[in-house]
Amino acid sequence: MKIRKAIIPAAGYGTRLLPATKAMPKEMLPIIDKPTIQFIIEEAAASGIEEILIVTGKGKKVIEDHFDSALELEYYLEQRGKFEELRKIREFTGIVDIHYIRQSERKGLGHAIGVGRKFIGNEPFAVLLGDTFFDADPPSLKQLMDGYDRLQTSIVGVQSVAADKVSSYGIVDAKPLVDSFAYVNRLVEKPAVDASPSRLAMVGRYILTPSIFDILENQSPGVGGEIQLTDALNQLLAKEAIYTCEIKGRWHDVGDPLGYVKAILALTKQRAHLKQNLQDEMNELLKEDPQSPDSGSGDPAS
Ligand code: UTP
Repeated sequence: MKIRKAIIPAAGYGTRLLPATKAMPKEMLPIIDKPTIQFIIEEAAASGIEEILIVTGKGKKVIEDHFDSALELEYYLEQRGKFEELRKIREFTGIVDIHYIRQSERKGLGHAIGVGRKFIGNEPFAVLLGDTFFDADPPSLKQLMDGYDRLQTSIVGVQSVAADKVSSYGIVDAKPLVDSFAYVNRLVEKPAVDASPSRLAMVGRYILTPSIFDILENQSPGVGGEIQLTDALNQLLAKEAIYTCEIKGRWHDVGDPLGYVKAILALTKQRAHLKQNLQDEMNELLKEDPQSPDSGSGDPAS
């Protein structure tokens, strides 16, 4: 069956980025001049997704406003001959159908996916986390969807992370199969580094079969008191095979302060007119105070 629908959970508190995320969803944080969630929707559309459900929460109305038409602004730009700006706000319109649903209580990623049950119905679907995008060709979700065409079962996108990062992600114990695919034995949510079965982290892209919904509905809270998708996937494993797809491309975890800065730098590098200035500015900044504790690359908050 073709994957046509996707869920983007975007109802989290984004506590790692407070106070910026107190009133503004982290999914709307701009990477230079485009909100993170727009990259994600463009990726879904480029992968062949036709309908998207964004799971929102309190204070997330701004996401709906962003994807709505803005006639007043369009008129303003048109009157002033700002056609390039006009193109930028119009180019996105209609590339995919977007629907919204509220997650009334913030009970975790598994719960957020569960509220999409009616929208999905009884077909396999994609999940793209709202704070994660990729610079990848083919798009990261397309890589999973191509895998689904061959394997016809749930697939989780993974990439290898440094040892000191395994406790921040869901980690997979998997047996290599073919190409970028491996067979999942078990999954562990945010393990201590010594107890981690591998360094393969789930990176926010999933193809799931609808069997996950019954499991999520009866799921007890796990790590952090949240309904964890990782726990549901472990239960799904008892019924169906799950595979990993090692995503080829650059992963941007915008929900993490250092990841957010790195995403902006990576995209700045891709714009010729910003790139040279960036080089000069960084040289200046690093020259100014090389001994300053703030000049290191580590981020104590992440
Ligand atoms: P995270 O766990 O990274 O988001 O969830 P968070 O809890 O908002 O972040 P921190 O740890 O407090 O900084 C990954 C994705 O799942 C969504 C988030 O919005 C994010 O896009 N999510 C998480 C929900 O939609 N609902 C939830 O209950 C939890």
